[in-house]
Amino acid sequence: MLTYRTAQPADARLYFTWANDPDTRQQSFNSAPISLETHTAWFTRKLTDPNALLLVFSNEAGQSVGQVRFERTPVADMPDEIIIGISIDAKQRGKGLAAQLIQQGCAICRKRWDAVAIHAYIKPENQASIRAFERAGFRLSGESGKFGNSDRDALGQNKPCLLYLKTF
Ligand SMILES: CC(C)(COP(=O)(O)OP(=O)(O)OC[C@H]1O[C@@H](n2cnc3c(N)ncnc32)[C@H](O)[C@@H]1OP(=O)(O)O)[C@@H](O)C(=O)NCCC(=O)NCCS
Repeated sequence: MLTYRTAQPADARLYFTWANDPDTRQQSFNSAPISLETHTAWFTRKLTDPNALLLVFSNEAGQSVGQVRFERTPVADMPDEIIIGISIDAKQRGKGLAAQLIQQGCAICRKRWDAVAIHAYIKPENQASIRAFERAGFRLSGESGKFGNSDRDALGQNKPCLLYLKTF
């Protein structure tokens, strides 16, 4: 069984390692490596941001296996947009943990923010992520150009990402 806690200042180094994991950078919309300075400023800000929810998950052996993050953006006259992001520690991948983290994380987010919908933006080639989100009850809603994707197709055009949606 997985347990969770909200991220703490002492997790800064752990998050730094996870954020700079090559696959995580590759699957992020800004794929450039992150400096420790940039990370420290970002992480410190997020820990006190009421619109950010950072959850660290651990396995029964007490190892930190991954993180799920929710970011909330108020949208005029509409329910807030809540965006989920996830990464699994490189040594813990391929064990089917991702869908569990997503499901548990969404339940916590729903309670915390009274969420009615959660959005996931995923690069089309990220099959592991797509499968994990589908297993956790997300459904494809369409393509989105919301995030400036540095990836280009054969014609040099920006590639859209996929928007997956979970509603409650
Ligand atoms: C995406 C990520 C969270 C998935 O976690 P994971 O531990 O690798 O995947 P899981 O073992 O939970 O498997 C999830 C599903 O993807 C499948 N899968 C795993 N690796 C795969 C691969 N390389 N290609 C295709 N499918 C794959 C699994 O078979 C499983 O499918 P199933 O449920 O139908 O059996 C993890 O790979 C990761 O942290 N990647 C880097 C960061 C990232 O991409 N985050 C998501 C951004 S949207």
